[in-house]
Amino acid sequence: MRKSKIAGVGRYLPERVVTNDDLAKLMDTSDEWIRERTGIQERRFFELGKDTTSNMGTRAAKMALENAGLTPQDVDFIVFATLSPDYDFPGSGVLVQRELELPTIGAIDIRTQCTGFVYGLSVADQFIKTGMYDTILIIGSEIHSSGLDMTTRGRAVSVLFGDGAGAVVLQASDNDHGILSTHLHSEGEYAEELAVIDPGSSRAIPRTQARMIEEGTIFPVMNGNHVFKHASTRFPEVIQEALKLNNYQPSDIDLLIPHQANLRISQMVQRLLSLKEDQVFNNIQRYGNTTAASIPIAMSEAWEQGKIKEGDLICLAAFGSGFTWGSALIRW
Ligand code: ACO
Repeated sequence: MRKSKIAGVGRYLPERVVTNDDLAKLMDTSDEWIRERTGIQERRFFELGKDTTSNMGTRAAKMALENAGLTPQDVDFIVFATLSPDYDFPGSGVLVQRELELPTIGAIDIRTQCTGFVYGLSVADQFIKTGMYDTILIIGSEIHSSGLDMTTRGRAVSVLFGDGAGAVVLQASDNDHGILSTHLHSEGEYAEELAVIDPGSSRAIPRTQARMIEEGTIFPVMNGNHVFKHASTRFPEVIQEALKLNNYQPSDIDLLIPHQANLRISQMVQRLLSLKEDQVFNNIQRYGNTTAASIPIAMSEAWEQGKIKEGDLICLAAFGSGFTWGSALIRW
């Protein structure tokens, strides 16, 4: 059967670096608290008037296309993963179609939060396998910083997230290399454990009320301990699922690129799978959690640093709001 391979990787990070000490000026927190519990040292925040979710995604996509030796005109379809789109609707995928001045190709947005990139990759992989498309852009891009409660009330969530974008070009493969399998899961029972509830479509008429701003229900809520517990179980489980299907062991993985949720979660996954330090890629220290963008940003950096080479076995895994989780195993 036809396979799809990652032909190019790219990323865009806004210039503005925000350290833990910068956040401590806005809320009651400290560099020590954030580093100890999450590993995060700094993150990037977007620049108003310059960066948007779609244009950051477009910049990452341009880098991925260049990396693949392709031009925007080669793209057949766009998959855009984000929980922070430019507009409520339309989605951001169509804005990339406009920004890249592409012909009227299709574009879809994926709404599975931290697992968005893995879901997007899986969707694109199916389109390529069936022969419907040859070249697909998959973009993960997020602007979190404008939607966080930057006061002490929101500190348990706000210190975790950063802005950024990553992209890959997926192409039909001419050999056995490429995506070996993808594995997707969800458990809606825990939908409200990590969510932005307001302004929801069926919670008030009209749906946006001043009290939502006053009460802070427009900001993300998270049951941190619950998320931590489920993530630490689901990550190893879904990685093992991918390995088992393809008859591999954790020791066969050349590089695991987990969604960058929290360094402590990545370290726990590493321990549970008995992986060596150099088998796991982490960059959350510099970018925080960039949700759908974290895996393609990490992939792009890992590739540039020579940590992903032709023939390597690469595993991607993610867990997040929904709850949703998933993995992809790739022979590079
Ligand atoms: N600075 C200082 N103190 C804080 C902060 C902060 N930013 N946030 C919370 N605290 C306080 C709390 O109020 C609490 O104080 P109290 O004991 O007086 O009540 C104390 O610190 C401990 O709070 P906990 O929530 O118990 O802290 P915990 O050690 O569990 O760490 C954390 C919280 C880091 C969020 C942890 O639960 C976690 O990592 N969970 C996973 C969530 C995650 O990674 N989410 C990312 C998004 S989802 C995803 O991508 C998978």
